Amino acid sequence: MWQGIIEKYRKFLPVTDRTPIVSLSEGNTPLVRAHSLSELLGSEVYLKCEGLNPTGSFKDRGMTVAVSKAKENGAKVVICASTGNTSASAAAYAAKAGIRCVVLIPKGAVALGKLSQAMVHAAQVIAVDGNFDKALGIVREIAEHTPVTLVNSVNPFRLEGQKTAAFEICDQLDGRAPDYQVIPVGNAGNITAYWKGYTEYKTAGHVSSVPVMLGFQAEGAAPIVRKKIVSKPQTVATAIKIGNPASWKSAERARDESGGLIDMVTDREILEAYRFLAAKEGVFVEPASAASVAGLLKLKRKSFFKKAGKKSVIVCILTGHGLKDPASALLGVKKPKTVRADTRAVIKAMDL
Ligand code: F0G
Repeated sequence: MWQGIIEKYRKFLPVTDRTPIVSLSEGNTPLVRAHSLSELLGSEVYLKCEGLNPTGSFKDRGMTVAVSKAKENGAKVVICASTGNTSASAAAYAAKAGIRCVVLIPKGAVALGKLSQAMVHAAQVIAVDGNFDKALGIVREIAEHTPVTLVNSVNPFRLEGQKTAAFEICDQLDGRAPDYQVIPVGNAGNITAYWKGYTEYKTAGHVSSVPVMLGFQAEGAAPIVRKKIVSKPQTVATAIKIGNPASWKSAERARDESGGLIDMVTDREILEAYRFLAAKEGVFVEPASAASVAGLLKLKRKSFFKKAGKKSVIVCILTGHGLKDPASALLGVKKPKTVRADTRAVIKAMDL
């Protein structure tokens, strides 16, 4: 029986027999062969569907470790700043652990699905009149001066949990690492965690290589690409609307050590990839997740993978579920036709 990532990858994680495991059976998410993308690229493309974690995003992998350790250390309150998914995950795991949860969100910039999760899991939600970077600064300061535990990805236990996605991908590919991994970059914890995971798995002898890491930021929120803080980040992909990533330096290390790159994609490219995934691959993600596939398509246009000279194995990380952000799903799609409740009227409307 699958009992979550701590049970599965315990020997790689900072837990002991005394750690009370707080789990919602996260992990074990599907690695789906993307037939349309594979054909388009002439490569073997896979989608790691992290939106199928218990709260609908990859954050659960890190949260199970962070909240288990918080409980072990006797925490009474956990706190985070969030563009939405971290808060949803923190709220759920804190509920399971019986720990109070406080979340700071940038006012008006969090998708409805995520906000409703934090509220229904009974977290205290505080909207800050400022962006994510501001909110993260505040919770870091609070955690320094009060007895609350910070569960943002600056908490190293978060990245420890998140790195298990790299292990899983290698296991699902029958003991090999992909040639390339494409991933959205926001606060830059996830790209850091994956790189840690791949290198540890290689050191442990489970794989013989590590992938080239290809990260993508949104054009209006691309501080790493532009090499400077973006004070007013803008993008339709609210999850990665971040101007000063906490794991900036370690993301650059992942990029450089793997011989990869961190580039940016426009909102238009993100939404095109978002619709492509839903319409051609049958996979519904939130806009931030589509940044990876938008990046893949951008690299294809630049003939990036042709240079490899062989059929590559490429894994795109799809970080969050489409139902997180219902408003984005309705942008630019046709409204349903309304017809009389009558068989003939329906057949007529079907345009057979
Ligand atoms: N994709 C989704 C769906 C996210 O929610 C995030 C980050 C990212 C990608 C980027 O990952 O920050 O590790 O580079 N969301 C955070 C949050 C910031 O508060 O939920 P990253």
